[in-house]
Amino acid sequence: MCEKCKGKFYITTPIYYPSAKLHIGHTYCTVATDAMARYKRLQGYDVLFLTGTDEHGQKIEDKAKEAGVTPQQYVDNIVAGEKGVLDLWKLMNISNDRFIRTTDSYHVAAIQKIFKKMYDNGDIYKGTYTGKYCKPCESFWTESQLVDGKCPDCGREVQDAQEEAYFFRLSKYAGRVQALLENTDFLEPRSRVNEMVNNFIKPGLEDLCVSRTSFTWGVPVDFDPGHVVYVWIDALFNYMTALGFENDRYDDLEKYWPADVHFVGKEIVRFHSIIWPAMLMSLNLPLPKKVYGHGWLNFNGEKMSKSRGNVVDPYILAERFGVDALRFFLLRTFPFGSDGNFTNELLISTINTDLANDLGNLVSRTTAMSQKYFGGTLPEGGESAALDEELSLLAAEVVQKYEQAMDGFQFSVALGEAFRLIGRANKYIDENAPWVLAKREESRPRLLAVMKNLCECIRIAAILVSPVMPDSAQKIFDLLGVPADGRVWDSLRYCALGAWQTSVGAPLFPRIDVEKELSALEELTKPPVPALQVEPLSPERVDFDTFCKSDLRAVKVKACESVKKSEKLLCFTLDDGTGVDRQILSGIAKYYKPEELVGKTLAAVVNLPPRKMMGRESCGMLLSAVHTEHGEERLNLLMLSDTIPAGAKLC
Ligand code: MSP
Repeated sequence: MCEKCKGKFYITTPIYYPSAKLHIGHTYCTVATDAMARYKRLQGYDVLFLTGTDEHGQKIEDKAKEAGVTPQQYVDNIVAGEKGVLDLWKLMNISNDRFIRTTDSYHVAAIQKIFKKMYDNGDIYKGTYTGKYCKPCESFWTESQLVDGKCPDCGREVQDAQEEAYFFRLSKYAGRVQALLENTDFLEPRSRVNEMVNNFIKPGLEDLCVSRTSFTWGVPVDFDPGHVVYVWIDALFNYMTALGFENDRYDDLEKYWPADVHFVGKEIVRFHSIIWPAMLMSLNLPLPKKVYGHGWLNFNGEKMSKSRGNVVDPYILAERFGVDALRFFLLRTFPFGSDGNFTNELLISTINTDLANDLGNLVSRTTAMSQKYFGGTLPEGGESAALDEELSLLAAEVVQKYEQAMDGFQFSVALGEAFRLIGRANKYIDENAPWVLAKREESRPRLLAVMKNLCECIRIAAILVSPVMPDSAQKIFDLLGVPADGRVWDSLRYCALGAWQTSVGAPLFPRIDVEKELSALEELTKPPVPALQVEPLSPERVDFDTFCKSDLRAVKVKACESVKKSEKLLCFTLDDGTGVDRQILSGIAKYYKPEELVGKTLAAVVNLPPRKMMGRESCGMLLSAVHTEHGEERLNLLMLSDTIPAGAKLC
């Protein structure tokens, strides 16, 4: 390890199911992991940040079948295709050092070895599985674990399942896992410990079914053809195979294992804090130092789900608001350990308040004044005052609290600290009123010090926000002319008095017009209207005799005119073969000009009772075909061949 390094830091995200495109909820966890990885790098740690995709399982097999492609083609498209997982992480500026796919051959071979090892040591044995299976969660449940007969994780229907299968002796490790959870900081936040112990361990940990025979898209059990390894064993060991465990692809196990922290969403804490340590215990491997179970992002109060149509698209948000603003919003707004409610209003107001008003304004006011009063060149020296001391003390306190919060994964608190300094600096401008100082030559030394204190506050704040908003932080450093060694963690000591060379740039975070943006977003996220829609067929039956009572005839248009004061009606004079003209009014003025219909042969119901419309009598009804196109109603009169004589019966 290099001398300057503070040590290693290995951090992971859950590997994603590529069963659908990722949404803002997935993005949340990856952005948080990225910010933590960047923070640790900033502090001088040798970081390995791993993410990836979890590509096996019945759900993927089913989806591929539906799409008419092989499972491999299916996952390749969602992972590496346009706007796939890799594209999204690139867009979101995710700095992962490694990306694992569980279909990577080195991983597959390693999983086979791992499974065999646990079989050989007696912790995996063959038996018969009877119970319930939740397909979407790829989870097996016993009857007693179900909630109202449904999957306790997702609340969906479960299926009966019975088959020959391999089992992992999870029950054997119940005591050790319970002690790990209760007596150490292995699992955080602490509230999740009670949930695990009370809901899963205390009711009795049963052995876990770890192979399946009802589908094939998984890692084959090489010593028993027909069985594939349970997807969670395959998935959990990614954290180690990606370092080189049981494979030659990498050689980083010794350096980086055990992981310093696994960030995981709350619904998969059970797998990470019970099954994962038990399997590692079975193989006598060191346990990860920590599992942190973060909360869920809901949308407008509802759980995000594709079927509800409330999945928020990170591409749309990043494009409209900027990647840094979106990253900031996610981490500033929602305490990491709890659930949060995502709304577009909240997103926009956070950007406007914190970024446009507070940070953006501070930077633009400071650089603009520095330009105006000193041409952007702030030389050494200046006249300090008590207020500066206050600012520097606050900066020191903020840095210390920020560090404490980040070390506890409290992103929102840490960012709150950085913004305390930003808020104070804005107030410092008003207290010192540089525009007043600028009026008197003898105040210039004080004006100089004020400008430099502001630059220093901004520099420190920019270092603190850099793990969350890496690009914006660099832009700010550039505007202040901060040299490379002033952009690093070790330069966080307050020191305003050196020289600065500032410049003026475009606003970092333009203010958003709330109303306009909200309606634009609503429009963009509206579920698309199907291009063509026809009315569903009527479920009601009409008996044949009743149907035959309708007298349908071919009629020829002798004359057609608009009806005065009516936007809708056209009045037809028709030859119905009787020798007496028939008048029918029809609400189709929106679709036809009267003159284009003269001479046409149409279809009409002629035995309806006459009725008055706009003072005229209508004796029957013309038939048309109606459908909807791009949300708009379309109508076509039924036009018959002109060879059909007037009065011919339609049947
Ligand atoms: N493949 C498993 C993880 C295996 S790790 C060895 C999996 N994948 S997932 O794609 O379904 O979910 C990945 C992560 O996204 C999980 O941590 C999950 O909690 C998180 N989120 C999915 N929707 C979310 C929100 N709406 N909000 C926050 N996180 C959410 O589980």
